[in-house]
Amino acid sequence: MPINKKKIAGEKATEYIKDGMTVGLGTGSTAKYLVEKVGEMVKNGLKIQAVATSRATENMAKELGISLVDVNDVDYIDVAIDGVDEIDRDFNATKGGGGALFREKIVASLAKKVIWIMDDSKLVESIGEFPLPVEILPYGYKATFKRLKALGYDPVMRLKNNELYVTDNGNYIADLHIGSHANSDDIKQKLDNTVGVLETGQFLKMCDYIVVGTCNGARVYDAISIKQEKF
Ligand code: A5P
Repeated sequence: MPINKKKIAGEKATEYIKDGMTVGLGTGSTAKYLVEKVGEMVKNGLKIQAVATSRATENMAKELGISLVDVNDVDYIDVAIDGVDEIDRDFNATKGGGGALFREKIVASLAKKVIWIMDDSKLVESIGEFPLPVEILPYGYKATFKRLKALGYDPVMRLKNNELYVTDNGNYIADLHIGSHANSDDIKQKLDNTVGVLETGQFLKMCDYIVVGTCNGARVYDAISIKQEKF
């Protein structure tokens, strides 16, 4: 059986979860293993409350018996654990391939400790190859789309079953094709100033640790140790 690197990373990250914590639960195929493991730990007596980053994760957590709390009912989150689509050595990440970027950013911004989990294919020298998801408001979305196009970001409206993809927040997503040689801070500033853009999948230097699933087990890096690593 092939090695399941996502499972290795997701399960390893549960070591950061302790009794009494408020935990941010991520979204996606790597976070799924985290949530499954947390469900198992809860069955074995772990006492936590969780904030979900999407309806999908919320439903999964409910089924597994994990206590959920509304994001508006917490002042902070002890630890948020989530997947990424790509991440570089400076801990600049792209997220939102699964469409949950807005809630993921809110949850990460409330967390005292942020951990991204992934298989080793997500480590890149420079982010930008993965299309950057941007959540845009339905009202006037065609004008927003034109603005993104005028910036040279080659936006493509995300579709599902031939209809515009709708996020958990009732908005749309434009996936931007920028390439890996652009300056992330410059892109951030331009997108922050684009009318109609709610949030972007740029998560720049937002995490404390990354947990990477490899053929040789899980590896944990902080902002210093990742600098020495060869991808
Ligand atoms: C969800 O919107 C995303 O940010 C995911 O966390 C990200 O796409 C990683 O997903 P996988 O773990 O499925 O690759």
